[in-house]
Amino acid sequence: MTAFTPPDAAGAHLNGAVPLPLAGKRFVVTGGSRGIGAAVVRLALAQGAEVAFSYHRSAEAARALCQEMRAAHPGQQCMALPAQVGDTAAVEEFTAAALECLGTLDVLVNNAGVTRDATFARMRREDWDEVVETNLGSMFNVTRPLVMPLVKRRGGAIVNLTSAVGLHGAPGQTSYAASKAGIIGFTKALAKEIGEFGITVNAVAPGFIETDMTAQIPPERMEYVKALIPGHRLGTAEDVAHLVCFLASDHARYITGQVIEVSGGLLL
Ligand SMILES: NC(=O)c1ccc[n+]([C@@H]2O[C@H](COP(=O)([O-])OP(=O)(O)OC[C@H]3O[C@@H](n4cnc5c(N)ncnc54)[C@H](OP(=O)(O)O)[C@@H]3O)[C@@H](O)[C@H]2O)c1
Repeated sequence: MTAFTPPDAAGAHLNGAVPLPLAGKRFVVTGGSRGIGAAVVRLALAQGAEVAFSYHRSAEAARALCQEMRAAHPGQQCMALPAQVGDTAAVEEFTAAALECLGTLDVLVNNAGVTRDATFARMRREDWDEVVETNLGSMFNVTRPLVMPLVKRRGGAIVNLTSAVGLHGAPGQTSYAASKAGIIGFTKALAKEIGEFGITVNAVAPGFIETDMTAQIPPERMEYVKALIPGHRLGTAEDVAHLVCFLASDHARYITGQVIEVSGGLLL
């Protein structure tokens, strides 16, 4: 009987190389400059992928991440390209440039998103529009130019970032909840539509994760939220990135049309 040897940090077994789970997979990630998107970029590269990611306002953070990734993973491509995901023309330029750099595509991670929270009676139409355009409009803008390359090569994975708020609702977040619930419908419909081409489409629903997005939550509300989480703490961007990368890998090839929470057991 062969003795079991534990994998090292990179996942390679000491008595024989085990391929990295995302080796050679070409990723497009939106909103890779910060938070969950940046964690996905880091983990995907660590697991062997090539990555093109978009940024909007955080050009310097995007540049620094690319530089760090190129130094850490020489021989693997990492590039950052600007795109406001609610702007159809800007996204067309981004997706064309990403495809040109990568050659083709295996995985799309629709991650970029915003909140503009307010009670519904006080919500401004422009804030509603920004949230819906950024979070839900981007599903159309980014996915549409990239779906045919996936269909043509008869395989791939799309992972969309929704939210526990899209499943359960939350006060002060009607625009965000509506946009994230829309992503769930989009995910399920597209999964049914393109499954015959070997493409999976899933949604990841984080609860409360430590990023700039949750840093805006007032301390009293944060205490209330923590009390609702069985472990009484927020998740990390890496907690979410691990699920995203699993869903992008061939290990998840029989999982599609699903909405999977990473929320530490939060019940809103
Ligand atoms: N953090 C949480 O607790 C949580 C919970 C549930 C769901 N989520 C979802 O997870 C995703 C990532 O959230 P996060 O916490 O990492 O947020 P974050 O730290 O605020 O980062 C947001 C990312 O989205 C990009 N972005 C925002 N608006 C954009 C636009 N109009 N065009 C292009 N890029 C844009 C930002 O790029 P720039 O900085 O370059 O502008 C940034 O990279 C979002 O879809 C969010 O709704 C987060």
